[in-house]
Amino acid sequence: MSDASSRPSYYERHIFFCLNKRSNGENCCADHNAQEAFDRCKAQVKSQGLAGPGKVRVNKAGCLDRCAAGPVAVVYPEAVWYTYVDAQDIDEIVESHLKNGRVVERLLTPPHLGR
Ligand code: FES
Repeated sequence: MSDASSRPSYYERHIFFCLNKRSNGENCCADHNAQEAFDRCKAQVKSQGLAGPGKVRVNKAGCLDRCAAGPVAVVYPEAVWYTYVDAQDIDEIVESHLKNGRVVERLLTPPHLGR
């Protein structure tokens, strides 16, 4: 058996956006422009040549169970959670974290916020 942390990663960084929509009126990321944020992130990553194996992958996700902090996205392998508001926030996550590996401290999801 090999140590999982020593295995090469197919993507250098992988970001997941919760796009979950609830129809019962409960809070959900889809009600906070999550789809637009996902589309923007995907477009930015592609246009900057960051997409692909050994680089960055942007994925949709269902509920990540941190709805109270939504809209949320999480970046691996660092397991850094972000709560974003607008396109400028997404651009900063792309430029700083996905491209250069620097965490955007001002957008970090408060650690106590869950569902
Ligand atoms: S609806 Fe987005 S984390 Fe639950």
